[in-house]
Amino acid sequence: MRSVDPGEGFTSWREIARRMLGEGVPPQEILWEAERGLFAPSRVREMPTMKLKVPAAFVELAQSVTCHSEPSRWALLYQILWRITRGGERHLLTIASDPDMAKARMLEKNVRREIHKMHAFVRFKLIDTNVETGRERYAAWFEPDHFIVEAGAPFFKKRFANMDWSIFTPKGCVHWNGELLTFTAGIPNNPVENPDALEAAWRTYYRSIFNPARLKVKMMKQEMPKRYWKNLPEADLIGELIETSRERVKAMHEETLRPEKPAPNNAYLGKLKEMSAVKPCGYPPDPALSLAELAAASATCRACPLWEHATGTVFGEGPRNARIMIVGEQPGDREDVAGKPFVGPAGKLLDAALAEAGLDRTTLYLTNAVKHFKWIPKGKIRLHQKPDAGEIDACRPWVLSELKQIAPDVLILLGATAARSLLGKPVQVTKNRGLMESPELAGRVILTVHPSYLLRLPDPAMKAAEYSKFVADLKLAGI
Ligand code: URA
Repeated sequence: MRSVDPGEGFTSWREIARRMLGEGVPPQEILWEAERGLFAPSRVREMPTMKLKVPAAFVELAQSVTCHSEPSRWALLYQILWRITRGGERHLLTIASDPDMAKARMLEKNVRREIHKMHAFVRFKLIDTNVETGRERYAAWFEPDHFIVEAGAPFFKKRFANMDWSIFTPKGCVHWNGELLTFTAGIPNNPVENPDALEAAWRTYYRSIFNPARLKVKMMKQEMPKRYWKNLPEADLIGELIETSRERVKAMHEETLRPEKPAPNNAYLGKLKEMSAVKPCGYPPDPALSLAELAAASATCRACPLWEHATGTVFGEGPRNARIMIVGEQPGDREDVAGKPFVGPAGKLLDAALAEAGLDRTTLYLTNAVKHFKWIPKGKIRLHQKPDAGEIDACRPWVLSELKQIAPDVLILLGATAARSLLGKPVQVTKNRGLMESPELAGRVILTVHPSYLLRLPDPAMKAAEYSKFVADLKLAGI
């Protein structure tokens, strides 16, 4: 009987599994990590590795299953691998009713589902700004059941590339500084609301990215004047790290490790901000608030549940004295990340149509009937969902306060949601498009389709015809 340590995940398990297969050790003769202690551990690292050809689908399955916290996952995967490679069951992966496969697929599904949850539910909190780079630093806490941090991290790297962030979890932490994703060990408690715990967690991270081989004390002191060191969570590590760096470099050479990328300058020079909890804004908004105050107040609106899964509120944008105000439906994926209305594909189409209608976007006030992005996860994307009547009603006070502040001559409503919000009742857009009688809203009210409707039309001829009608509607605003 062999007792083996599968290590931390897929790569280490694969290494051991190859060696075991190479030696022809059958599944029933291996005790994986959970049963360790009964027998002396095998000296597996000294044995030859077998070059294995396994179906890509198995690798994909194993990458997910090894993230699961189920203790029997290692043995299960080895059993499947053995059956495929040694048992001649080449098609095992396609047999859904096989008990091993059924279990593996269930574990795979749990892991996939949790990665989606991580993408949907991680909420970052602004902690401070790196005064040297101007990049904001955010932190989030998440409690997954499985070891999904590594698999889930690239999504955040892509989406939040322009800010520094850390996601802390009991099952591993990940950090992004604009250059590198770094993984550190999990921590038991949420540090985000606790400055001391946050500092401690960041110190661990700083240690892990500190590369003594690249240490240039003089430059470091120039770039990070000593007077700032007292404000850095990692400051008092610097002396210690410099002291021990020579030995560490020597050790690195002895281990013939390749030097890593240069240690990114992680000198966060700002003091940790007061970590005030988000307080829900006054709702409905105070009519005495200015446009800027309204925008700030809406950032913490909790009047409907949409805030929970959105990156933030997307308030209107444009000059206070705009003659024309345009109301859309809700921010989309791009708007949600940028915090600005109409910057995604629908916004690009709107820009083109406005230009064709002789309207200059920079002179208009653009906003949405609903200020948070409503979506569901679908594969790798966040799929837009239409806001319901309750969500439109909940957001109405914000758009009405914007209307009051801007008091435009012309109000353009794009699509059914904007119409439902401002006109207070469901309206069929294609039947009622054009000028509307609503003097209480603005001197001229124009109802037209939403640009996303045009984007969705599959037939090019119909698209062109509808686009012309859209431009004609916008022209009703007059130049
Ligand atoms: N669709 C909208 O209605 N508003 C936006 O800001 C973007 C897309």
